[in-house]
Amino acid sequence: MSSTALPAETDVRPGDGALRILGLSGSLRAESFNTQALRAAAALAGPEVRLELWTDLATIPPFSEDDEAEPTEAVHRLRAAITEADALLISTPEYNGSIPGQLKNALDWASRPYGESVLTGKPVAVLGASPSQYGAAWAQGDLRKVLRASGASPIDRELCVAHADTAFGPDGLPKEAELRTGLVEMVSELAAHTRTVLNTV
Ligand code: FNR
Repeated sequence: MSSTALPAETDVRPGDGALRILGLSGSLRAESFNTQALRAAAALAGPEVRLELWTDLATIPPFSEDDEAEPTEAVHRLRAAITEADALLISTPEYNGSIPGQLKNALDWASRPYGESVLTGKPVAVLGASPSQYGAAWAQGDLRKVLRASGASPIDRELCVAHADTAFGPDGLPKEAELRTGLVEMVSELAAHTRTVLNTV
């Protein structure tokens, strides 16, 4: 995505009361379709949300229970970013029918120490992009399961970005209206769910 009008990492939108949504891509690939999907979601989202991408997945070390009480700075930053966000929007690739290891590893860090998970009650929406016709559907299902197990509050909606290698135009936005609408509706449903959660805590 070289000549794009979309934000490289963040899309800070003005507006009092805007929900802070942290976008997490499960891919480390520079030209990742999942990262592209999140950037498109940020560009298409309404002013009621401020969608920022977290781009430090590669800095997270392998999880060990020995280190969970005193993790690296990168893990502290991940936990802080999740804590400060009102909600998460995660776009996952599918590797061998499930979640990429580094994404699962980061969520394991976020879920510990026991009783101190920064994911507890956190509203989350999951989408996935793949060049296949299935759009990472299995990985999305597994990711929602992992999120529920770690105490987060994922919405049931899924968004399969199939044929992701041809889904986005040179401007970084989805070529098809259906995908543009899907991204907008997913963020909108996440925002509604987040407001419900925030009003009930
Ligand atoms: C894949 N890919 C893949 N795709 C899919 O739809 N189902 C799968 O099970 C797998 N398995 C798989 C395993 C491994 C190890 C790799 C590296 C890739 C293809 C994958 O969807 C493709 O590489 C995407 O482009 C990865 O997402 P990003 O990096 O574009 O966001």
